[in-house]
Amino acid sequence: MKELLEALREASRQAIDEAVDMDSLEALRIRYLGKKGELTALLKQMGRLSAEERPVIGQLANQIRTELENELDSRKAALAARMQELKLQSETLDVTMPGKEVKIGVRHPMYQVLDKLKEIFIGMGFAVVEDREVELAEYNFDKLNEAPNHPAREWTDTFYFTEDSSILLRTQTSPMQIHVMEKQKPSIRIIAPGRVYRKDEVDATHSPMFHQVEGMAIDKGVTMADLKGTLNEVARQLYGPDTVTRFRPHHFPFTEPSCEMDIQCYRCRGKGCPTCKGEGWIELLGAGMVHPKVLSGCGIDPEVYSGWAFGFGLERLALAYFKISDLRLIFENDVRFLEQF
Ligand code: PHE
Repeated sequence: MKELLEALREASRQAIDEAVDMDSLEALRIRYLGKKGELTALLKQMGRLSAEERPVIGQLANQIRTELENELDSRKAALAARMQELKLQSETLDVTMPGKEVKIGVRHPMYQVLDKLKEIFIGMGFAVVEDREVELAEYNFDKLNEAPNHPAREWTDTFYFTEDSSILLRTQTSPMQIHVMEKQKPSIRIIAPGRVYRKDEVDATHSPMFHQVEGMAIDKGVTMADLKGTLNEVARQLYGPDTVTRFRPHHFPFTEPSCEMDIQCYRCRGKGCPTCKGEGWIELLGAGMVHPKVLSGCGIDPEVYSGWAFGFGLERLALAYFKISDLRLIFENDVRFLEQF
């Protein structure tokens, strides 16, 4: 019995010395001192000992228990200290190391152009207004004098929410003319940028979602000359002082007379090239004098007030501004593309 106890004392001492972490220390404590541990097992055999041997062995066993407990404790403390040291080492901060570079993107090229436009228009006394993209057909079409059978109203062209074609995703920013005129009496000078939606397939010049910027000025004595003057000034501030524009007659239901404005091709300077499809000109926007019916529909007397409006595709303008050839690049958000601006 005595030999067995001595052997246990030796073996456990060595095992504790070699333990490398808290888990194995705990396993050793259970193995030797636990209820079903080796020391307990030995003590259970005490009954077989003689009356003289029993107290001696009992004393030895208690001594070994105390020793083991102390050894476990001190090994535990040593391990804890060692781990703390390792932790401190691994967490030391080398303040001389170079920092991690934080990559900051750039403002999307299209919004750079919009910012510039806002600046130009604000400089001329215009306010910037924004509003809903989900619109009533009444505002997108009816109040803009669009005929009940106008092709843009077709389900094949426009995204509708309701069977009765009364709620839709706006197909143009022109309903903003109505919203503004219903709320505000002249004089009015606004631009209204925002998203518009049409059922178009994606290609180099089309997308089912794109951005337009609407512009409108209503006051006493406003004429087509003001429209041309304003748009020419914007074109020059945007594309450079020698920018050449031209105005062609056109038709929109909500303006009369109506026109389209082109700029001379920035690639070929009017000679004709693939960018302008050989035309020498690039179509930029639709515009005109706000129709008297539209004015009176908003409670503005067309005998007293007149005004003009225009609308253009922001993507197309940005393409022209940065000389980008494909509309899809604007939406794909490929960093290799965006980094260039
Ligand atoms: N809303 C027209 C379009 O989407 C553009 C336009 C706006 C024309 C204002 C005239 C006046 O094509």
